[in-house]
Amino acid sequence: MAGQETFPPPFKTLLAKSELDARIAELGAEITRDYKEMGEDLVLIAVLKGSVIFMADLCRQINLPLSMDFMGIASYGDDTKSSGVVQITSDLSKSIKGKHVLIVEDIIDTGLTAHYLFDNLKTRNPASLKLCSLLHKPERTEREVQIDYLGFSVPNKFVVGYGLDIAQKYRNLDFIGYVEE
Ligand code: IMP
Repeated sequence: MAGQETFPPPFKTLLAKSELDARIAELGAEITRDYKEMGEDLVLIAVLKGSVIFMADLCRQINLPLSMDFMGIASYGDDTKSSGVVQITSDLSKSIKGKHVLIVEDIIDTGLTAHYLFDNLKTRNPASLKLCSLLHKPERTEREVQIDYLGFSVPNKFVVGYGLDIAQKYRNLDFIGYVEE
């Protein structure tokens, strides 16, 4: 149709839907095993908006009673570079005191955002605090963060799809792609 962009745009596939599905099933099984003894105190916390698609698929692979909460954060950096100075734009709806908290992230790039989040949540006295990230770009690390559950390490490319955006678009792609330079 005239005036419409082609969809999806011609991104190169980095991780196909089938690869994402298979790895997320493995992560879910691992988390289920590790948290089995903790019963109803498991809380998954996803960071808006990039982690929402991963959260939706991961939580359905965890065979335990759990609750979910969401946090909105904005970085003071520009669009492509995280500054590590983070503002909470929307806070958790409930206290996490005494809960087993698992942060669900889309990607650890410089590590600055995850580092801030970890320190912030730790002050709220959860029973335990761990991090699960779908992707990690090790070449970009500025702050080391311990990723307890990792989907995939990826090369130093700007990736898009499956929750990740370019200027707020393409989050709805069911695969992870990148723009070839
Ligand atoms: P960090 O603070 O540098 O680790 O980056 C954190 C956030 O930057 C992620 O949660 C993403 O929202 C965004 N980000 C980093 N790399 C990419 C990318 O390759 N594509 C899309 N978003 C990214």
